[in-house]
Amino acid sequence: MKFNFDCSENLEALLVETARSLDEFEGGFEPQIRQADERFGDFQANGVLPRAKKIGKNPREMAQRIIDSLPATEDWEVSLAGPGFINFKLSPDFLLRWVRAFDQPEKIAVSALGQEPKKIVIDFSSPNTAKQMHVGHIRSTIIGESLARLMIFCGHKVIRDNHLGDWGTQFGILLYAIKRENVSLDQLGEDPIAELENLYRKGTAWTKEDESSLEKARKELVELQAGNPENLELWKKIKEISMDSFDAIYEMLGVRFDFAHGESFYRDRVNQVYDSLLEHEICEENEGALVVFHPEHKRFAKQPFIIRKKDGASNYATTDLATLSYRQEEWEAEQIIYVTDGRQRDHFEQLFLTSRKWFKAEKRAIPELSHVWFGTILGEDNKAIKTRDGQPVKLADLLNEAIERASRMVIEKNPELTEDEVTRRAKVIGLGAVKYADLSQDRTLDYAFSWEKLLAMQGNTAPYLQYAVARISSIFRKMADGTTSTIEEARPPQTPHERTLARKLLFFPLALSQTRRDLKPHFLCTYLYELATDFSSFYNHDKVMVEDRPTQGLRILLCLRTKTFLCAGLEILGIETLEKM
Ligand code: ARG
Repeated sequence: MKFNFDCSENLEALLVETARSLDEFEGGFEPQIRQADERFGDFQANGVLPRAKKIGKNPREMAQRIIDSLPATEDWEVSLAGPGFINFKLSPDFLLRWVRAFDQPEKIAVSALGQEPKKIVIDFSSPNTAKQMHVGHIRSTIIGESLARLMIFCGHKVIRDNHLGDWGTQFGILLYAIKRENVSLDQLGEDPIAELENLYRKGTAWTKEDESSLEKARKELVELQAGNPENLELWKKIKEISMDSFDAIYEMLGVRFDFAHGESFYRDRVNQVYDSLLEHEICEENEGALVVFHPEHKRFAKQPFIIRKKDGASNYATTDLATLSYRQEEWEAEQIIYVTDGRQRDHFEQLFLTSRKWFKAEKRAIPELSHVWFGTILGEDNKAIKTRDGQPVKLADLLNEAIERASRMVIEKNPELTEDEVTRRAKVIGLGAVKYADLSQDRTLDYAFSWEKLLAMQGNTAPYLQYAVARISSIFRKMADGTTSTIEEARPPQTPHERTLARKLLFFPLALSQTRRDLKPHFLCTYLYELATDFSSFYNHDKVMVEDRPTQGLRILLCLRTKTFLCAGLEILGIETLEKM
């Protein structure tokens, strides 16, 4: 039988096809294929139960009917289990054929698609300008980047857009402070972005002290928004300084964007939003503001989505509506993924509800809209992570500390390395560890940041996975030339550890599709961790370089595929690997 890279898809198609000829499955059948408990099989179909419940029949009998109708094959054994599950246990021959066939990450990619390629916009990182990135920005940046890589890997066309907060009220205060202090933005010294933050802090204090300062700051903002050339010039400079500091971090993290339009890009497009929403009677006047209610929604029937403030100014919501419209119209986005902190859930829910109504009224295509939200990073005290003096932790400092700590690990293990090599490895290990700590947690949960945990060589960490890759590389380094030719003679897996590892390799596509479906990278992390663990047990039990050529061939093949999948998975997560560690 011909098989896909994702075997669960094969089995699903087979079951659907088989059920079609049976009366009790008339009207559709969803097999619901899952990974099975290893004691019972490799895949398990759970879909008979809900079907049986619906039509009031005995699920075990129904499952048995399907089993009896399945075409005969040597590829797996089928059995009935529990209240009506169908279990498939793959034959050793099948496992070998599968592991042999998927020798290139490209094949994984093509087959992992399983759907039409889509145009996907990912809105992530999106810090506010005039401030440094702090630790809170790491999650959006890292999760967004890995989702972009995953979607590209699966064959989709991705646009990465950094939706900078570059048009907010912060500029009134900042421009006022710059002018009051008479600072030249070209001579800000070593750390210009830190200088800007200081100015902003001063400005805020002044505006709190007296009314007239507040008034002046407001005026600066109005002037900026009206296009006063001097203010615009300053604003541009501030954006450049901010971008330089962001880019240094993106460079370290290996993150890039196709666009960084930012909020300012849409400032002339907000009027169209008001006009159209008014025309279609989607928004209404309410106490001087323009708002959208959603009567069909429990909370948003009363809680308004404010799209124009009382003073006539646009806000975050207006800009997001204009942005969404632009992305659909200009980029023909079929899906838009927003990666932000969980506190913005209401905003995005209201934005999505409003946009769907708006696009429907305008007879436009409605993109799939996904809010990928995440929890907070906690410090040792279980409160949002802060520095000792209560300031937000600067992202640059955190990343440098990661590299610093990893350098110590590298030197301790390999005191003979040159300084350059230490730095190279420390970057891969330190930055990988920080990224992985973030990605390996269910993103909707808060997680506690701990240097010891994330840099540990044991457990579900990046160094553990990177070490598994380096270990396999060293196996290959030690082999004499031509040894891998025994792969041609490989026999099917026999020992329990060979079988467990082969089976685990087969689940890679499942981990990818689960990650893609829920937009949660931790599924992929968990899979990679289990794969590395299964590899380790295999390697400790089953000697690779044995005399028997078919045995050696299989074992080399398993090593090779494990490495390929670990590297492909880590690459999707944005984590680099090392040949030696
Ligand atoms: N600048 C915002 C913040 O720092 C995040 C923007 C997210 N993207 C969006 N389209 N609203 O919270």
